[in-house]
Amino acid sequence: MKRGIRHSVAGAIVALLGPATALAMQVSSPDARITFSIDPGDDGVPRYSVLYRGEPVIRESRLGMRFANHHGLDGGLRVTRSERRSADGTWQQPWGERRQVRDRYNELFVLFQAEAPSRQLGLRVRVYDDGIGFRYEVPGQPGYADVDIVDELTEFHLDPEATAWWIPGRGWNRYEFLYNETTVTDIGLAHTPMTVRLASGVHLAIHEAALVDYAAYVIDKRRGGILKTNLTPWSDGIRVKIRAPFVTPWRTIQVSPDAVGLLNSDLILNLNEPNKLGDVSWVEPGKYVGIWWAMHLQQKTWGSGPDHGATTADAKRYIDFAARHGFDGVLVEGWNTGWDGDWIANGAVFSFTQQYPDFDLEAAARYARDKGVRLVGHHETSGHVSNYERQMADAFELYEALGVRQVKTGYVADGGGLLRVEEGIDKYEWHDGQFAVAHFIRVLEEAAKRGISINTHEPVKDTGLRRTYPNWISREGARGQEYNAAWAPPNPPRHNVTLPFTRMLSGPMDFTPGIFDLLHQGPASEFRVQSTLAHQLALYVVLYSPIQMAADLPENYEQRPDAFQFIEDVPTDWEESVALVGEVARFVVIARRERGGRDWYLGAISGDEPREVIVPLSFLAPGTRYLATVYRDGDEADWQENPYDYVIEQRSVTTADSLKLRLAAGGGTAIRIQPEK
Ligand code: NOJ
Ligand code: CA
Repeated sequence: MKRGIRHSVAGAIVALLGPATALAMQVSSPDARITFSIDPGDDGVPRYSVLYRGEPVIRESRLGMRFANHHGLDGGLRVTRSERRSADGTWQQPWGERRQVRDRYNELFVLFQAEAPSRQLGLRVRVYDDGIGFRYEVPGQPGYADVDIVDELTEFHLDPEATAWWIPGRGWNRYEFLYNETTVTDIGLAHTPMTVRLASGVHLAIHEAALVDYAAYVIDKRRGGILKTNLTPWSDGIRVKIRAPFVTPWRTIQVSPDAVGLLNSDLILNLNEPNKLGDVSWVEPGKYVGIWWAMHLQQKTWGSGPDHGATTADAKRYIDFAARHGFDGVLVEGWNTGWDGDWIANGAVFSFTQQYPDFDLEAAARYARDKGVRLVGHHETSGHVSNYERQMADAFELYEALGVRQVKTGYVADGGGLLRVEEGIDKYEWHDGQFAVAHFIRVLEEAAKRGISINTHEPVKDTGLRRTYPNWISREGARGQEYNAAWAPPNPPRHNVTLPFTRMLSGPMDFTPGIFDLLHQGPASEFRVQSTLAHQLALYVVLYSPIQMAADLPENYEQRPDAFQFIEDVPTDWEESVALVGEVARFVVIARRERGGRDWYLGAISGDEPREVIVPLSFLAPGTRYLATVYRDGDEADWQENPYDYVIEQRSVTTADSLKLRLAAGGGTAIRIQPEK
């Protein structure tokens, strides 16, 4: 510990020269709680380990990488140079969970060198109070111009008995799985973010930041608690095709004494590059409704026919509803040709500009604009990336001309089934391989030229690129509300209380909350929403996204105007956010203050069990009296037996008060807290 503190002198640059065998180098967080040690190793194999308040949280773990046709950067390495640096600054998010983000860390850069043949590997480590990022920096060097990476050796060596929450990696359903809760020993191939609770109560989340021109990795469990990075391969088996000099994405480890600390961390954003797009005032957070849930309920179809969802008449009905209730957008899915037949298998026939005869895109867009609402565009590709890329420029131009500012994209194809056609040959790639990573960024750049923001469904996982590309406004990348419709076993109550501690650590999610007709197939059907109604309201605060859908049918909202009021009121852009209390997969309470305003909103949700939580309101401004409008589970509420039992009540509160929240099984509380006049 002491050693780490001594090394964290701001701005100091120290060069350690000469044979460095057995000389461990350390760098600690500004608050000195986290210490990252690099052990160059007598065997020339670099390893690292991490202490948190003196407790080993990551044991000796290997570093390095291997290539197809070059000597690996995996052994015979000794340290030839090191540099230290510290930084402390703040930057602003154009939209986000908080406006100001503090970026404060201590950095250590180490250059390793191997001989015969001579080759170099750099490692840059940044240690923040809320965790660690480290990345490889491979310098330009003779013989290493173009390299094919076949393996990255980075490990995260954990206590095998620690508890982990994870979804399978490299699976057919991409990221749309329910979370497993197992010991580290029982992890299979797993996506990140993966969250771990150690016996001491310390929580870790393993992930990556700034995934650009590289493959994502999944976690591959090896013997004795060792988790190894496993880079997603191209269709030809190579993991990454790259030219030195290059840097890898940051490998990240968020560290917190408790579960909610992970939610208050800005580590992933801090490790991304600043905004590349310049003025992004055209990126607009907001709320939307749309022709969507009716298809998932199988009342309407995306394809043509008597039940076609995307008709001009129905779009106008949704636009009227949106205008009446203050929504910004109306999503229309299924207006463009290509949906007929098995659309999941027929990506090649999608047109992104040609409309079905019963839908007049021009007229609908004009009708919306006249009412102060915008259409939200939709591009379902069914994973046929080449078909989409051919049409992308025209497709965005059409939307731009019609005043569309947001497009939801979709890549419904099984994992490993993204299609690119190269010289007439079909090649199938993963949603998180190097090809897909580059494609998603091409889409952002094409869209940005036309003032359009992108909400990607079936995306690659988020690694904080919204900082660099603020038009990447949201994405899916988890099992969302769509699974609670009429075609899949629904999400169990614990799913929504697992998301904040896992998937949401990576960034915003277009979960599409707000289903009011919870028993849409009748009380006897297994197809239903496994939550109370108050839980649906709380999700608008708990599951952060700058765009939030009111996902249900307008007629279902019109039946419950009192509860719908919360959805009308809740903002989607925040001045500050604070996760107050929670346990992974059990419950969570989050409060957020409206961007540019004084109102606070609080969301609390529970999982499978009912729960009572005391929440101090110490986040409120001192000296102000507030009116809290509470939307809570009624005393008899229970997701299974009594999901519609809710109470709306008001009380006067100050920062000195605490609220006792009684959450039903699958329940929730949503609160608007406004300063009293
Ligand atoms: C899957 C998306 O998650 C869903 O929102 C969309 O409606 C369908 N694909 C069709 O594009
Ligand atoms: Ca999906």
